[in-house]
Amino acid sequence: MNEEAQSAAARKKDHIVLARHSKRPERNDFDKIFLVRPALPESKADLSNAECGFFGFRVKAPFFINAMTGGVEEGDCINRDLCRASGKNGIPMAFGSASFVEQDPSALKGFEEARDLTNQPVLVNVNADTSPKTVKTLVKALDPIALQIHVNAVQELVMPEGSREWKWKEKIARLRDAAEIPVIVKEVGFGFDVASIKALAEMGVDAVDVSGKGGTNFCTIENCRREKGDFSYLAECGFSTVQSLLNARFAQQLLALPEEGAGAKMPEVISSGGIRNPLDVLKSLALGARWVGVSGKFLSTLLGGGEEALEEEICEWKEQLSGLIALYGASSPEECRKIPWICDAELESYAKQMARLVSPGEV
Ligand SMILES: Cc1cc2nc3c(=O)[nH]c(=O)nc-3n(C[C@H](O)[C@H](O)[C@H](O)COP(=O)(O)O)c2cc1C
Repeated sequence: MNEEAQSAAARKKDHIVLARHSKRPERNDFDKIFLVRPALPESKADLSNAECGFFGFRVKAPFFINAMTGGVEEGDCINRDLCRASGKNGIPMAFGSASFVEQDPSALKGFEEARDLTNQPVLVNVNADTSPKTVKTLVKALDPIALQIHVNAVQELVMPEGSREWKWKEKIARLRDAAEIPVIVKEVGFGFDVASIKALAEMGVDAVDVSGKGGTNFCTIENCRREKGDFSYLAECGFSTVQSLLNARFAQQLLALPEEGAGAKMPEVISSGGIRNPLDVLKSLALGARWVGVSGKFLSTLLGGGEEALEEEICEWKEQLSGLIALYGASSPEECRKIPWICDAELESYAKQMARLVSPGEV
């Protein structure tokens, strides 16, 4: 293993330990959203309420296990547990970044062994600097339903060994061509602004995973790995998941304007970052997300209670979510978009200010 690969392996191990021990906030912007519940819902709680398509594959719920780890022994072991939980519960699963395979081709084996443990769709995750050749190798070996490309400028800045060049648009376009499967562009916990979502739409990206603030915080995690030069003041940087979902709605409005959109199609929106329970999933759907990714919460259940605890938790989430969908008068994840919602004054002020900022001609 070369020096770069050794450093990446050490970082992956640190991330698992630090994510496990760093506290995720109890409250986040999902608490500022109130769904309007009909007293006469005219619906029925049924497990099938939660079923939906996932890039053309039928799955049992609109939420999935989002990217975390792989490529080192501890990570491969976690991925095997996550894959079994995905297979038993009929939900998709995303591997953590596999860019590492470029420096250490032997790391592919661990991903392959985990992949064999689920019959559900998997997502392969890479950084935008990965070569098209490596992406092709990963797609061939792991048969993912889509490729996740993560963009993580804040994390790279705080990461002691992080990259200092964040010119990604052309690289994303190249990887999209190489992958020949749908492409998701994903943040890692700092959210998405309107202009970037619009730019990705114009590039023809299939989905944007907003992965906003409100859960696992990679500024805090990377800051713990620094020996000097405190960056803790950046922990509040970026947009929350809820703000990012509102930003996606603004981007969609802009794209609908003939003079702004130029025929670009709005990507599917994935909500992740700080998803704590099935109600956060439902709120994400009501705010326009098609699917919802969960990382820190599931990892802490797995590391705290083992594989069975995670399988049980996912099973409970499916049951509870199907009940909640009915409670709010819907019968499928798609219908949840129609659930009316209101928000508190702080979020309303955010939405008003952002609407002013993004009015046509100013983005
Ligand atoms: C231990 C750990 C490792 C992660 N590694 C990756 C990664 O390799 N690629 C990626 O796109 N996101 C990675 N993430 C970020 C998550 O996918 C997610 O965007 C972020 O944790 C926010 O979601 P959460 O609040 O549900 O944890 C990682 C998260 C954790 C907890």
